[in-house]
Amino acid sequence: MRVSVIGTGYLGAVHAACMAELGHEVLATDVDVARLESLSVGRAPFYEEGLPELLDRGLTTGRLRFTPSIREVGEFAEVHFICVGTPQQPDSGAADIRHIRSVVRELTPHLRTGCVVAGKSTVPVGTAARIKHEIAENIDPGTEFAVAWNPEFLREGFAVRDTLRPDRVVIGVETLEAADKLRAVYAPLLGETDLIVTDLATAELAKVAANSFLATKISFINAMAEICEVVGADVHSVADCLGRDSRIGRSFLSAGLGFGGGCLSKDIRAFATAAEELGAGRSLRFLREVDAINLRCRDRTVDLARRLVGGSFTGRNIAVLGATFKPNTDDVRDSPALEVAASVQSEGASVRLHDPRGIDNAREVYPALNYVHEVGKACEGADLTLHLTDWDDYHDIDPASLGSVTRCMSVLDARNSLDAPRWREAGWTVRVLGA
Ligand code: UDX
Repeated sequence: MRVSVIGTGYLGAVHAACMAELGHEVLATDVDVARLESLSVGRAPFYEEGLPELLDRGLTTGRLRFTPSIREVGEFAEVHFICVGTPQQPDSGAADIRHIRSVVRELTPHLRTGCVVAGKSTVPVGTAARIKHEIAENIDPGTEFAVAWNPEFLREGFAVRDTLRPDRVVIGVETLEAADKLRAVYAPLLGETDLIVTDLATAELAKVAANSFLATKISFINAMAEICEVVGADVHSVADCLGRDSRIGRSFLSAGLGFGGGCLSKDIRAFATAAEELGAGRSLRFLREVDAINLRCRDRTVDLARRLVGGSFTGRNIAVLGATFKPNTDDVRDSPALEVAASVQSEGASVRLHDPRGIDNAREVYPALNYVHEVGKACEGADLTLHLTDWDDYHDIDPASLGSVTRCMSVLDARNSLDAPRWREAGWTVRVLGA
């Protein structure tokens, strides 16, 4: 099939490459011409495992192409995937759908009859209906079209795998024809993956509901961590006990520094705000608390670190391991690790920060932090080591030899994923949150 992808950020670039991998003819566009040029020669604009190989294959076979012309895109495809961002509005926290509306405005005059315009971005419920109305008002009379919503559930770091082997494909539609077109797009996946067909609003809601549930699960266990610290229990054992219950499950119950990145925080704020605007604020008030618990994880980490260096950071050397919001990505958006590092430095510590992939992006956000490319360099003379992002690289550290370069063999494992007995055996004091 001929499909287009409009917006080549994280979601769009991965989606375009995966659509070509499934055998479709893909034409992708963006307002960022430099990004298009880079993608056209197979260079991914961010680090994501498996993406460069897919881009390369798509470009070599000719199935994947990029163009700055929205007209060309409109005339080319029978299914258009809108993948532009829906950033958080700074004042209200609501999702800003301006980019989606401007894409639709520009695309409408070029649409072919019988096409489907399918949104993939995370949006407030009602966006699809609004888009449908806007297209209907501006399209040439007689040109038939359908609007669909096809939310994306991919995780950074697993984006290619999640797109090619998703847990489910959700399509919200109003007509059988639109459902058939989208079913044809995903046909190569449908042996292993269930397709769930819904109405537009349900598909829009399914995405924000999923992210809200995941965020709630993480904040729930972090709230338990706060209680554990008061009563002297161990949150990680509590999580193991909960996780054995098949109705609950162990995933997303890792207590520690909490969530960050481009999605969870933004989406729960936008969802709560949208509910308030609809007069249903009461239903999602708990998401404000989920957000607050999550942000407190960062403060609790800084507080514990301060206590571990004797009550003040002034004059202390702090080694920070990790800058990205999670491992296997170079994304530092709303990164808890980076925020903790900056707070510690602002309180007078001398910080040396290591990250396997995220230093270039981190430097753009916090240029005043001191970045190093070796773990040993970060820990040289350190009074305290903070483990803030759960990279495999840090699991491979030899604690004995790292200990020989520090001033004090003390580590705060805010992701609770280091092999604590091994570190203790090597002479380290290991502290975690929630124990
Ligand atoms: C998330 C959703 O998982 C995905 O379905 C959606 O499409 C986009 O948002 P992502 O932002 O890539 O994906 O990250 P995810 O793997 O969900 O992790 C989010 C954050 O939660 C990370 O900062 C991670 O470190 C943290 N986390 C995760 C925890 O603190 N504890 C956990 O148990 C799990």
